[in-house]
Amino acid sequence: MNFHIMTLFPDMINNGLSESITGRAMDKGIININTINIRDFAGNKYGHVDDYTYGGGAGMLMQAEPIYKAYESLIDGFCGGDLTKKPRVVYMTPQGTPFNQAMAEEFAKEEDLVLLCGHYEGIDERVLELIVTDNVSIGDFVLTGGELPAMMIVDAVSRLVPGVLGSDESALYESFYDGLLEYPQYTRPEVFMDMKVPDVLLSGHHKNIADWRYEKSLERTKERRPDLYEKYIKEHEEEYIKFMKRKKR
Ligand code: ADE
Repeated sequence: MNFHIMTLFPDMINNGLSESITGRAMDKGIININTINIRDFAGNKYGHVDDYTYGGGAGMLMQAEPIYKAYESLIDGFCGGDLTKKPRVVYMTPQGTPFNQAMAEEFAKEEDLVLLCGHYEGIDERVLELIVTDNVSIGDFVLTGGELPAMMIVDAVSRLVPGVLGSDESALYESFYDGLLEYPQYTRPEVFMDMKVPDVLLSGHHKNIADWRYEKSLERTKERRPDLYEKYIKEHEEEYIKFMKRKKR
């Protein structure tokens, strides 16, 4: 899968993603991170890509033209110059739809995904109207730019691309896959600072272990994410009732 990231800070993206699992996936050629420096498309010798806002107000705005030109160069690269084959262009903005696992799964189906990172006070609305297909926020807070959000999205989407995770990693961090948070997990030693690993996990009894994990997932979700818990219970009522009946026996 190819991620095309339009940014003023390509080093930030490349440095951040070239480590760990995304870095290994890049080395193996399973994912490709193509950063496009918007400043390379500035229409002046100073490399300025921002200007004052019409109508007044504090701060500078990123201009439409350098971003549109960067977009055109990108399209030339992977659509053979055919502008009718529009790629998905995700604009990182606190005004976007909140990012979640379902969205990551959706993005992972694309062969090419373009991520647009803003800076300063935002971007001229006209270029956004022209090229953006999805507005995405990573949460209700305001960052200094779209680079960290873009890196988060690349990370969350990459791990869903076949081959990026090894078979022993793919079971990790599966929170959210069935709508519940992950149960607590333990590794050696059996006793750490007088705290013992729950007996059931040492029992080798697979059914009891599965039940214990399901119960802990339910408890944890109820406590930490009551919104997800309510949704889960509504959608898995039968399974939940069956489990509770079995537990009482
Ligand atoms: N840019 C600045 N803040 C952001 C946020 N919360 N989500 C996505 N992009 C952003």
